[in-house]
This record gives sequence, structure tokens and C-alpha cells, in this order.
Amino acid sequence: MAQAAAVLQPESHNENMSIGLDGDYRKDMAESLTEILAGTYGMIIKNHVFHWNVVGPLFKPLHELTEEHYQALFEAADIIAERIRALGHLAPESLKAIADFAPDAKSVKHMTAESMVKDLIRDHEKCVGDMRKAAGKAGEASDLVTEDMLTARLTFHEKALWMLRATVAD
Ligand SMILES: [Fe+2]
Repeated sequence: MAQAAAVLQPESHNENMSIGLDGDYRKDMAESLTEILAGTYGMIIKNHVFHWNVVGPLFKPLHELTEEHYQALFEAADIIAERIRALGHLAPESLKAIADFAPDAKSVKHMTAESMVKDLIRDHEKCVGDMRKAAGKAGEASDLVTEDMLTARLTFHEKALWMLRATVAD
């Protein structure tokens, strides 16, 4: 018997998915998580660029910290994308959507190690703000799994912020 081909489409209607989270909520949260995923990918790339190009007395600590962070962020990207799928929506799949992950074009030629750290601090703070807002929405909707995932992500970003601040403290 011929098997029907699987069709990739979002399961946004409640009748297709009964997990106690309504379709409007799942759609809204999938959009929030897609933005969070974009921020996470942007930081993976930026941490790599700084890992390669940092110079000066902070070279070793920043070279090592950025490596630790891009590896952790890469694992996180998979977890975030898979949560979007579990909520019934598609993980970003178009080239256009993936191109949006790239950070703003910027030259690192004249960046000092301190300015790289400050740049990373700004990105982590933006992620923390977006995640806290999404975690609040997840909590209100009793979406414990998304809330738990975002709590774990917030723990990582807040620790990263502490380490980055400590690296450039006077
Ligand atoms: Fe490396």
C-alpha cells in the first residue's frame, strides 16, 4: 500500500493538537521563540568572530570564553528550534529566515577586546529581556515546558553576563 507523503505544515489548529495549549498561544509563542532563536544564532556567529579576532592582554580569557559560549549557544539553538516544532510550528526553514540570523555587518578590525565584551554584554542583555518576557507569557499559559526551557536559557545568559562583566571590571 502506498504511504501518503508527509507534508510539512504548521499544526496551528486546536483540533489537530490537543495538549492543553490553544492555537493562538502556540502561534504567538512560536513567533517569540523564533525571535529568540534568531538572537541565539546571531550570538553564535558573533562569538565565533570575536573568538578568532580578539587581540591584546584579554586574548586568552576571551578566546576561551567565546568558545565556551558559542558551543553552549549552538546546543541551545537546537533545543529552542525543537520546542517550536513541539508547539506545532515550523522551525525557520527559508534561506531568507536563516539570513536574518546573521548579525549586523560590522568590522572587527578596530574593535578592542573590551569593546567586544561590551558588545556581547548588550546582546546577552537583549536575549535576557526577550526570554524573560516570553517566559512570563509561558507561565501565564501554564506552558511549563517552554517556561522551564527559558528558565534554563536565562540561567546561562545571566551567568555569561556575570563572567563578561567580571572580565572587563576595573
Ligand atoms: Fe577555535
